[in-house]
Amino acid sequence: MCGIVGYTGDADATRILVDGLLRLEYRGYDSAGICVAGADGGLQTVKSAGKVARLLPLTTEVHGRCGIAHTRWATHGAPSEVNAHPHLDGAGNIAVVHNGIIENYRELKASLLRDGVEFRSETDSEVIAHLIARYYEGDLVRAVVRTIGRLRGAYGIAVISRHHPGEIVCARNGSPVVVGLGKRGNMVASDVTALAAYAGEVIYLRDGEIADITPDKVEVRNSVNIPVVPDVTEIPAETVNSGKGEYAHYMLKEIFEQPDAAANTLRGRLDRELGTALLSGLNMTPAAMAQVRQVVIAGCGSSMHAGMVGEYYFEDIAGIPTSVEQAAEFRYRNPIIAPNTLVIPISQSGETADTLAAVREAVNKGATVAAISNVVGSTIARECGRGVYLHAGPEISVASTKAFICQVITLLMLALAFGRNRRMNREQGAELVRELESVPELIRAVLDQAEVIRRIAEKFAAGEHAFYIGRGPLYPAALEGALKLKEISYVHAEGYHAAELKHGPIALLGENVPVVALANDIPGREKMFSNIEECLARHAPVIAVVTGDDRTAERYTEDIIRVPPCSRFIAPVVTVAALQLFAYYLASARNCPIDQPRNLAKSVTVE
Ligand code: M6R
Repeated sequence: MCGIVGYTGDADATRILVDGLLRLEYRGYDSAGICVAGADGGLQTVKSAGKVARLLPLTTEVHGRCGIAHTRWATHGAPSEVNAHPHLDGAGNIAVVHNGIIENYRELKASLLRDGVEFRSETDSEVIAHLIARYYEGDLVRAVVRTIGRLRGAYGIAVISRHHPGEIVCARNGSPVVVGLGKRGNMVASDVTALAAYAGEVIYLRDGEIADITPDKVEVRNSVNIPVVPDVTEIPAETVNSGKGEYAHYMLKEIFEQPDAAANTLRGRLDRELGTALLSGLNMTPAAMAQVRQVVIAGCGSSMHAGMVGEYYFEDIAGIPTSVEQAAEFRYRNPIIAPNTLVIPISQSGETADTLAAVREAVNKGATVAAISNVVGSTIARECGRGVYLHAGPEISVASTKAFICQVITLLMLALAFGRNRRMNREQGAELVRELESVPELIRAVLDQAEVIRRIAEKFAAGEHAFYIGRGPLYPAALEGALKLKEISYVHAEGYHAAELKHGPIALLGENVPVVALANDIPGREKMFSNIEECLARHAPVIAVVTGDDRTAERYTEDIIRVPPCSRFIAPVVTVAALQLFAYYLASARNCPIDQPRNLAKSVTVE
C-alpha cells in the first residue's frame, strides 16, 4: 500500500528519497511524488501517475537537504498526478504525505470549503494540509497536534513547511511510522526497509505519538504534545533487502530461498532429546500452556490459509479445539472468547489492518494473544508482546511464498510444543522433530522439479480458468495454490475441497478448465482419485500432484508434479512449494508483472 519516506540532513535529499521510494515499490502503488525544501525554503514538488521510473526524470530539477516522498495506492480518487502525494495547502507553505484513510474527511472538507479553501485533488488526504495551515501560528508541531485531534480514521503522516527548514513532523494512528537515526541526518518511513541503508537505529512510533525530526535531533511527543522517551532499537540485519540477484523476479528468488528460510525458522527451536519445540517468544509456562482450552487463529489471505493448515495441526497433534477466523470479520461479529483461549494472529508484514483489529478485539476480550509474524518490530508483533518470529528474511514480492511456508512450519512447531505439553509422548514428539528437521531438504527436492513444473505450467498458460482441489490439510493448500495463480497470472482460479466440487462448482468444468488435484499419499488419497475421475468425465484436464513415484495418476493424466514422500503434516509445505512454482511459471509465460501485480499491495494497512 502507500509508502512514506522523509529525510533531513546534510546529504542530497532527492537522491535518498528516490532510493527510499524504490525500496518501497514492492508494497504496490499506482502513483508517486516528492517534495523537497530548496535552499530558500521554497517547496519544490513533482508527482506523476504510474511507477517511480516515470517520476525520476522530473526529480532532476528538485534539490535540497530536507523533503518527503510518497507512493500512493489509490483509495479516494483515481491514480493520477493531481491525486498523488505530497499535498500542499493553498499557499504552498505546507506539504503532507499520508498513509491510511481519513474517515471524516467529507465533513472536514465541507467545513474548509465553507471557509473558502480550494481543493485540488479528490483525496481524503488533502484536508490534512489545509487543516495544518489553518492551525499554524508559528509552531509546526502544535499545528500538527491540533490537526490530528480533528482526524478520525487511520493515518501515518509526514509534514514539512517552508517556514521550518530542515524539520519534518510526523505522526501515526493505526498506520506505521518509523523514524530512522542516521549518521548524516535522520529519516522517517512507513516501512523500515526504506531507511535501512541510511539509519542504524530506529524508533517505532506508537499510535497517538508525534515525532519532530531535525538533522541532529528527534523529539517524540504524545498526543497532547508532552515529550516522551522513545525506545530506540537497532535495525535487524534481516531487514536489509539484498536485491534480486540472478533471479528474474523476487518471487522466484523467494521461492528458491525457502530451504534456507525454513532452516532459519527452525534454527535453535527443536529439541531432539525432549522431542519438542522450544519457542521462547511464546513466553508461556508449561502450566499456562496446559490451561489452554481453545485456539483461535486469525489472518488474511495466505496467512489465513497457513492458519487453516494450523487448525489441522492443533487438533490432530495437540487435541485442542481450534478455529480459523477471517481477521476482517473477527471484531464485527462479537466473537466468543472463552476463558483460557489462545488467539494466534498470523501476519507476514505484521501491519495488516484487519489482523491488527482482530488482535485488539482479542486483547480487549481477555485472550492470551501470541503473534506469528515475519517483520521484527511490526505493530502486531509489538502489540501482542509475545509470539514467534519467522526469520524468513524480507519478502519483497507481493505474492507471499517463503512467509507462507515458514508460517506453516511455525504452526507445526507450536502444535508440537502444545502436543508434548499434553497428550503426545516423547517418542512421538521426537518423530515430529525429525520430520521438521527434514523440511529444508524436502523443499529442495521440490525445487529440483522446477523444469518439469515449468513445462506443465507453460502448457496451460493460455487458459483463463483453473480449479484446485484438495482434502484434509491439502484443502488449504488448494486454496493457497489458487490464490497464488490468480494474483500473479490474473487467471481466474478457485480452490475447493475436493468433495465440495460436486455440490455446485463442477457445473463449470470443461475442456478449458483444468483442475489441479492434490493427490498426495495422505489419508483421503483414494477418494481424491474418484474426484479426479469426476473431473475427467466432464472433460476437464487434470494436473495431479502426487507423492514420489506413485504411478496411479498416470492412468488419468500425463501432467504430473511429483513431491517427495513425507507425512500428512509436511505434505502442505512441499505441495504449496510446487504450486508456487506452477503459478510463477504460468504467470511468467503470460508476461505478467509478477512482483507487483495490478491492484495489489504487499501490506494492506486499510480495512
Ligand atoms: O502481511 P500479511 O500476512 O498480514 O498479509 C495478508 C495478506 O494480505 C497476504 O497474505 C496476501 O494475501 C498476499 N498477497 C498473498 O500472496
